[in-house]
Amino acid sequence: MATVTRTIQLALLLASGSCADEPRSFGDITTDPELPPRGEGDIDGWIDDGHYLAWRCEPQPVDVRFGSPHRPQTRTCNNAAIASATPTGELSVGAASVKEMYDEVGRIKGFGVSRKMETGGADGWYWYEKINGGVKADGMGAPAGSCSGCHMDATRDFTYVYVP
Ligand code: HEC
Repeated sequence: MATVTRTIQLALLLASGSCADEPRSFGDITTDPELPPRGEGDIDGWIDDGHYLAWRCEPQPVDVRFGSPHRPQTRTCNNAAIASATPTGELSVGAASVKEMYDEVGRIKGFGVSRKMETGGADGWYWYEKINGGVKADGMGAPAGSCSGCHMDATRDFTYVYVP
């Protein structure tokens, strides 16, 4: 029995070791059009599939707001959990936004994503950002590239843009 346990432990160790160089996955469902799956290995494909384009989106890219690092232009889409939320108070679990990021000549250079996993503040939010192929954030809560550190200043629940 002990040998079996050790074999299983070894197999798990090898499995996790072999994943270390692969893009990250949290094991989320990857086909839900309302919920971006966490982790570079899953979310890039989900973005490519274009699910968020059916969300409530700004009609075109806009110059970023004062203080925003997402330069020079972005276009934000909110999922139904945000679009149909009551006008005040904490958003529900499942709230998510995708932000297309544009370069100087109007091409998409990357994407930012926020998704609320749990109630109760910064720890409950997942952040993802990839610009020109480089991952800037892919994780939960405060250490995720300081995304939450700035987004906590949004007037409502870590989300700046509520697409009208
Ligand atoms: C210094 C402040 C600041 C930092 C740091 C920051 N953001 Fe933002 N973010 C903004 C502002 C302001 C907006 C509103 C749109 C705009 O003007 O760019 C925004 C918009 C967004 C949106 C669209 C939804 C919303 O909240 O409006 C997403 C998604 C997003 N940011 C993700 C990220 C991620 C991921 C990171 C970390 C890599 C990050 N942001 C870091 C200020 C910031």
